[in-house]
Amino acid sequence: MSSPARDADEPKSLTFAWTLAVILIVAFVLGLLFFPPMYETPKTDAADTVLFIGRFHPILLHLPIGALGLLCLLEVICLRAKGEAKYGDAALLTLIVGSFGSVLAVMAGIMLSREGGYAGGNFSLHQTMGIIGTAGVLLALVVRITAMGRGSSELLGAYRALYFISFAAMGLGAHFGGNMSHGSKFLTEFAPEPLKSQMISMEKWMLSFVEEPKEEAPAPAPAPVAAEKLVFADLIQPIFAAKCNSCHGEEKQKGELRLDTYEFTMQGGENSGDKNIVPGKPAESVSMQFILLPEDDDDHMPPEGKDQLTKEESALIQWWIEQGASNTQKVDLAALPAELKATAEALLK
Ligand code: HEC
Repeated sequence: MSSPARDADEPKSLTFAWTLAVILIVAFVLGLLFFPPMYETPKTDAADTVLFIGRFHPILLHLPIGALGLLCLLEVICLRAKGEAKYGDAALLTLIVGSFGSVLAVMAGIMLSREGGYAGGNFSLHQTMGIIGTAGVLLALVVRITAMGRGSSELLGAYRALYFISFAAMGLGAHFGGNMSHGSKFLTEFAPEPLKSQMISMEKWMLSFVEEPKEEAPAPAPAPVAAEKLVFADLIQPIFAAKCNSCHGEEKQKGELRLDTYEFTMQGGENSGDKNIVPGKPAESVSMQFILLPEDDDDHMPPEGKDQLTKEESALIQWWIEQGASNTQKVDLAALPAELKATAEALLK
């Protein structure tokens, strides 16, 4: 990369652009070092300032969408030499604004994730593609300034390819972010039929990259024989720990509810009280009711966009309540409904 000093013969605007590009790249790299992206709920609570800035993510992200979207149009115009001569500077400025917005949005997004409760495939893809897309746009910025400095149309072509790929990565990342806040079916729900199934299978394909290893992953504690294991401690609690306790555990008690011990679970929360789990009666148990609500219902648990229970996990909780919601019942794989065996075995591992 050429430094501002070496490019002293370049027009003033490029020296200025170099300065901004270097500042943005340094800010992005330092930001990622200070706030490395995490894919699980952080162990320690973040400072309020960090969480405060994080809440601006949903606002800030509109800046890069607007600027980089406009840039797509400008770059199409700039494909012709005449267009580049006329709008090249405008494209460069728009690219700088878009890069600035992307860096801000990524950093605020990572800070937002420090609230905890963000996990799952949509989140992983959103975070990863957002960061990769931003890195790509910053690199594209460097290439564009270099190309303009040398007056090289080949380099400009390479820049455009890089830019459009990065923009696409970011757009896909944004889509998975949309899934997090609006629910996974938001975009596809009203799509016309042939398109709909293609969109859904494309999405599934992408999610499969980040979701597959997760299912095999949770495996603490060496497993003796299943017979000595307890239904609550070894099957139900790990599910709560993975999907609920970022908000209902030792650190945070949303709705004054804790699910990290048997006693707390049965004690219930602010409104649920001893109805949180009603032994033998899943339909009357508030936690079960909330789990079974449609994902877009305000009371649905885990809240929309957070890492959701699988069908089997929720069936396992339901089965435990039906069996009397005991703290001492031993795991008897043979007595489990057939469709729950695989899930139970995975949890016991
Ligand atoms: C991302 C955070 C988050 C996660 C994860 C989460 N919840 Fe909640 N939960 C909340 C919030 C927020 C409330 C509502 C607090 C309020 O409105 O007073 C709540 C309330 C509840 C309540 C009502 C408590 C009461 O007595 O008022 C129940 C029951 C509940 N959650 C069960 C669950 C279960 C079961 C899971 C896991 C399957 C879960 N939650 C996962 C955030 C979360």
